[in-house]
Amino acid sequence: MSTGKSKTPSFDLRAEELPANIGIIMDGNGRWAKKRGLPRQFGHRAGAKTFRKIVKHCEARGIKIVTVYAFSTENWRRPEAEVNAIMDLLRSHLKESLLDFKNENIRTRFIGDRTPLSEDIQDLMAEAEASTADRTGMILNIAINYGGQDEIVHAAKALAAEVKEGNLSPDEITAAAISSRLYTEDQPPVDLILRPSGEYRLSNFLIWQAAYAEYVFMDVLWPDFTEEDMDKALMKYAGRNRRFGGV
Ligand code: IPE
Ligand code: IPE
Ligand code: MG
Repeated sequence: MSTGKSKTPSFDLRAEELPANIGIIMDGNGRWAKKRGLPRQFGHRAGAKTFRKIVKHCEARGIKIVTVYAFSTENWRRPEAEVNAIMDLLRSHLKESLLDFKNENIRTRFIGDRTPLSEDIQDLMAEAEASTADRTGMILNIAINYGGQDEIVHAAKALAAEVKEGNLSPDEITAAAISSRLYTEDQPPVDLILRPSGEYRLSNFLIWQAAYAEYVFMDVLWPDFTEEDMDKALMKYAGRNRRFGGV
């Protein structure tokens, strides 16, 4: 369990200063392993541990929605052995998370196109979603085979099909209509995008939802990312002045 508030003594944000919806790009696993002379998959294994720790910490801090980027539509370009290692980790996470998150009030959802994933993984995903569906605490979206562009294409096809069937008129294609057909459905926009590892890009993550998000980039590799780092990011966010085009 997270030790919560005691970890960062100066952390004293009020609930309304916290981002409701956070996207985390869990990056830097490969470099973490390389620095230690280990194969890249060891970095992914270490990153999976960090994922659990940080998700629990976000829940303890009262965050409403966290979306983690676990595997992008572009990550298939990696060597087959690495892709397989990531899928194996996903499989074991899905089996263990049901136990590990058993006492957490977290609802797990998956975003992305699951159809190319192996059938047993798809079944485990459905099981994790069904078994946590009635939880009332934080929503955890795990992005797997997720790409922001792919998600918008998916929404556009859904809208086109509805128009073709005569259930929707072209005038009804609004930003809200597109939003509701994304993988994130009726969830609110993203407030904070957090990317560790020292890269300064979105890499096709939540490109629609993050239209007015604040960005926090940190120079720490994901497996080394701590609860204190998370608190630092929350504090940076709280210091921002969001205007949404107004004054
Ligand atoms: C992020 O870490 C995990 C995935 C993309 C699956 P990387 O594997 O991208 O690590 P670096 O960026 O090469 O260090
Ligand atoms: C983004 O990281 C995807 C995930 C963290 C899952 P990448 O490492 O794939 O992104 P690029 O290639 O550096 O942009
Ligand atoms: Mg990377």
